[in-house]
Amino acid sequence: MKYTTLAAISSLALSVATIGHAEPQAEVLHWWTSGGEAKAVGVLQEEFAENGGSWTDMPVAGGGGDAAMTALRARVLSGNAPTAVQLKGPAIQEWYEEGVLADISSVAEAEGWADILPASIAGHMKCEDTWCAAPVNVHRVDWIWANADVLDSNGIEMPTTWDEFNAAAEKLQEAGVIPLAHGGQAWQDATVFETVVLGLGGPEFFQKALVDLDPEALTSDTMKASFDQMRTLRGYVDDNFSGRDWNLATAMVMNGEAAFQIMGDWAKGEFLAAGKVPGEDFLCSSTPGDGYLYNVDSFAMFNVDGDDKKAGQDLLAKLIVGPNFQKVFNMNKGSIPVRTDVALDEFDMCAQKSSEDMTAASDSGALLPSYAHGMALRGAQAGAITDVVTAHFNSDMSSDEAVQMLADAVANSM
Ligand code: BGC
Repeated sequence: MKYTTLAAISSLALSVATIGHAEPQAEVLHWWTSGGEAKAVGVLQEEFAENGGSWTDMPVAGGGGDAAMTALRARVLSGNAPTAVQLKGPAIQEWYEEGVLADISSVAEAEGWADILPASIAGHMKCEDTWCAAPVNVHRVDWIWANADVLDSNGIEMPTTWDEFNAAAEKLQEAGVIPLAHGGQAWQDATVFETVVLGLGGPEFFQKALVDLDPEALTSDTMKASFDQMRTLRGYVDDNFSGRDWNLATAMVMNGEAAFQIMGDWAKGEFLAAGKVPGEDFLCSSTPGDGYLYNVDSFAMFNVDGDDKKAGQDLLAKLIVGPNFQKVFNMNKGSIPVRTDVALDEFDMCAQKSSEDMTAASDSGALLPSYAHGMALRGAQAGAITDVVTAHFNSDMSSDEAVQMLADAVANSM
């Protein structure tokens, strides 16, 4: 008893001494550079500073994070990994296998992450039996955003089927409005594609095709119908879509130039940062069909030297999952908290819908990882699919050709 007390006192003294000496430092690589994203990441910077941390920002612009991941590889290869990196899905385990990730289990255990995170999300943060990433949020991918006035003045309701979406788009086109704001970047094409696959095929089909990579599903009539719908959507996009950033597409919906955008709820972060009100200025609804595509942002810590950086990693991991950050960050980011114990009463109606739908989808087995946002597949497989989706969207390739190319590309990527 006496010994335990003594040991506890000396370990407390040790940790106080360590904290006393090591000023937490973190160089943080992320791709949150749009208006809404920057506002959200500012919340983390502020909280880190308030807790004695000093933050070195390493933002790498480019929606979806492709450019950030290229920058990360260069840094790790040159033996100079950043302290903390926005990283998610199976890419976390891929980096772990390269032996470059730090173990943050002591923070996870001290903070009781196992009790406050849903098991499906906790699974993404584990590498073998250690914790190797800290989850930030749950973004939903399968959303349609709309300009409320544009729909109203054209007598259009939020579509609940893809046929209704197409009918609304035809009507808008005749009225001289761009039906679909889209940015022609591969990851944005993939984002739209996966919502179409989910909508037309349903959750079980999505799982078979884009998670299990079942060759029959990849070449099925349902997959052909998904490419047909992509071709139809291509007709609703304006001529200048190529290369456009996703947040500029959101701005087109905001200013009434376009009616709809199909995009994850980081788009809501843009509307909110511009002072727009959900249900009044803009509308949110899930893309037609059942299911919920989740995309969980997280930070992984890389092996670095120096007590100050290690203290920075521990502090960051602790703050990220902390209840205050989870609330304030996600209210800005457009996502919902990853913790199940954060009240949502101050969140907007779209966030509340997201949370309700997520619970329902989880109960019915329709909660699915987003392939387009790196939650479902390893990089090689996801990349193979996206290459075909983009090649099809930007050419006159038939749906028959596309499904064959899809099955071949996936097989070759294994
Ligand atoms: C990330 C979001 C980010 C979006 C656009 C997604 O993959 O999960 O946090 O806002 O890309 O950059």
